[in-house]
Amino acid sequence: MRTTSAVSSFLTALFRMFLRLGLLLCLIQGTVAQFPMPPPPPLQLKIGLLIPKNEPELAPKMGYRRSAAAVTLAFDRIMHEQLLPKDTNLSVVWKIEECDEKTASGLTFDLITKDNVDMIIASPCNEPAIMTSTIAAYYDRPVFLWGATTSGDFSQMDRFPTIATVVPNTSDMANTICRMMNEFHWRNFALVYTSTDIKGEKCGYLQKDLEGATDKYMGCNIAYKRRVIDWHEERINETLRQIRENARSKFFTSQKTQKTV
Ligand SMILES: *[C@@H]1O[C@H](CO)[C@@H](O)[C@H](O)[C@H]1NC(C)=O
Ligand SMILES: *[C@@H]1O[C@H](CO)[C@@H](O)[C@H](O)[C@H]1NC(C)=O
Ligand SMILES: *[C@@H]1O[C@H](CO)[C@@H](O)[C@H](O)[C@H]1NC(C)=O
Repeated sequence: MRTTSAVSSFLTALFRMFLRLGLLLCLIQGTVAQFPMPPPPPLQLKIGLLIPKNEPELAPKMGYRRSAAAVTLAFDRIMHEQLLPKDTNLSVVWKIEECDEKTASGLTFDLITKDNVDMIIASPCNEPAIMTSTIAAYYDRPVFLWGATTSGDFSQMDRFPTIATVVPNTSDMANTICRMMNEFHWRNFALVYTSTDIKGEKCGYLQKDLEGATDKYMGCNIAYKRRVIDWHEERINETLRQIRENARSKFFTSQKTQKTV
């Protein structure tokens, strides 16, 4: 008899508890209904864009007029694919740096400390992008690389912990050349590259990384190396003559085209 009453009083207590809980929930719901939660504020996304505009060598390839609109196109696609909340407020702060290291460094500081951007799209050239990536690493801001930022240095994660790149690097290109040489049992090649003082050059980096690759791979040697600064016929004839004497495989790399001959 005693056990039955104990069980029934326990059930009653439990029932009362649920009742109170239910009442409490009703109260909470009532309160919630009366005072709806304000919608979360729209996500503010501020992007800093560093880009050349008037530099004649760069403008047709990766200048402002040709490339800047890609940012808004990319944003449209992000919104279309619902990768960010619907009411995200995107703003782009763009600054013209003409692929100049000094300008890019100063503007990177300004973008981070004055404009307070969330991320930076760096210059499309190696040196200024290195400066931007270094400064942004200090402030822990993400940097996106594009264009001709081909330097193998960008793979050093301890130096540039905040970068993301979509550009294949010259170190990989150099390794590929040596692997191909090994594959066909070729030993010596001639390297002819263009390198002028214009900004945004990438052949100088490929040349440097090729030297690194030839140190690493056995039987992959640069037998002849020539930097071409102009297309003067006499000098080109002399270069071709020396190539003929020194190597059977030739790698020709130029600003405008990159091809193997
Ligand atoms: C969107 O961002 C811009 C620039 O940061 C700001 O001026 C504007 O007030 C923002 N708009 C909204 C609705 O938050
Ligand atoms: C770029 O170069 C480095 C060597 O400097 C290499 O380790 C890295 O995997 C390369 N590739 C990419 C896609 O970063
Ligand atoms: C360069 O070589 C071509 C072909 O051998 C020859 O016709 C031309 O005269 C040479 N030019 C000079 C300036 O030596």
